[in-house]
Amino acid sequence: MPTDKIIYLDNAATSKVDQEVLDSFNQISLKYYANPSSIHHLGQEANRLLEKSREQILKLLSLSHHDVIFTSGATEANNLALKGYAYANRNRGNHLITTATEHPSVLNTLKKLEEEGFNLTILPVNEKGQIEVNSISSAIRDDTILISVMAVNNETGAINPIKEIGEIIKKYPKIAFHVDMVQTIGKVDVPLENVDMLSIAGHKIHGLLGSGVLIKEKKIILKPLLNGGGQENNLRSGTNTLALSASFAKALRIAIEHQKENYKHVKSLADYLLNYLKDNPDKYVINSSCKDNPYIVNFSLKKHKASVVVEALSNRNIMVSSLSACHSKGEDYSYVVYAMNKDMCLAHNTIRVSFSYENTLEEVETLTKELTSIIKEIKQ
Ligand SMILES: Cc1ncc(COP(=O)(O)O)c(C=O)c1O
Repeated sequence: MPTDKIIYLDNAATSKVDQEVLDSFNQISLKYYANPSSIHHLGQEANRLLEKSREQILKLLSLSHHDVIFTSGATEANNLALKGYAYANRNRGNHLITTATEHPSVLNTLKKLEEEGFNLTILPVNEKGQIEVNSISSAIRDDTILISVMAVNNETGAINPIKEIGEIIKKYPKIAFHVDMVQTIGKVDVPLENVDMLSIAGHKIHGLLGSGVLIKEKKIILKPLLNGGGQENNLRSGTNTLALSASFAKALRIAIEHQKENYKHVKSLADYLLNYLKDNPDKYVINSSCKDNPYIVNFSLKKHKASVVVEALSNRNIMVSSLSACHSKGEDYSYVVYAMNKDMCLAHNTIRVSFSYENTLEEVETLTKELTSIIKEIKQ
């Protein structure tokens, strides 16, 4: 029976903006409309709010000695970190390292650098979707300058050992360590010591689409990708969208302040879904380990086409992903799940359910009932 209310379980793709964040955005847009680079007092007031937002972000993440560069989201932050660092540090070495399950905004950026003459090593992941720490040590060469490893995978929720990797990399002063933190912030704790650059997107934490940051250690030198008026410490020219920047800081504060209680709630939802999946081993294979991250539950259908099931769920007002939103219009299999289990059939038929604190147990109960009913109908 179709539900009348939308059940949104695609929060890893993007999350609904928090009303408080949207209110801030509107108020700031109306009050601080001057250009933060203008020297008149309205411009200077805007600039003070901009600088306060930067300070607040660093304080929330307990970071000092860092710069915050506001961007349009994580794709831009990842591009600036990787290309910016590679171009600025080419005289120090030519070798870059990453993992097979990175988001396309990291993988494709590094592949582009490879086309331009850099050497790229893409490391495999284990069956849990995690990078093995010693594979990083073995891949490091004399000419390695940059390593990029995501903290939490956007398709499976797998958590990488960022602390341990950071400890290895810090022994090599020439190498910068970049971490894509998009699916991590406000969800699971990942220690940031020894991380030189990190990317975050506002829209994954109930902030606004079009907001994001690259945070980098002050000592890290980047080449800007945009040239112009020299805003953002000459790293991202263009008039700063103050209302987006300040509301990003607000979304971050709300996400971090409520992280513990949200985690507990989301865990109860994930547990319900996992129990349902485990009770039906003839139909589903669970791809996520979910032990430490309940926000993303990824599973494969053993006998059915994921795209058909996702469409049927959508017709019943339940929104989930068959692949991550970033490549669901291109490739038709999950390279992330394939990298874990090397089973093309399962990689073709993955479903990702991604939660937010706004979801309820009733919604997950409805999801499981509808899944059972759809699969029965398809059989008939
Ligand atoms: C892990 C990860 N990195 C980067 C991105 C890209 O973020 P944005 O949509 O802000 O460009 C995403 C978006 O899904 C993501 O999940």
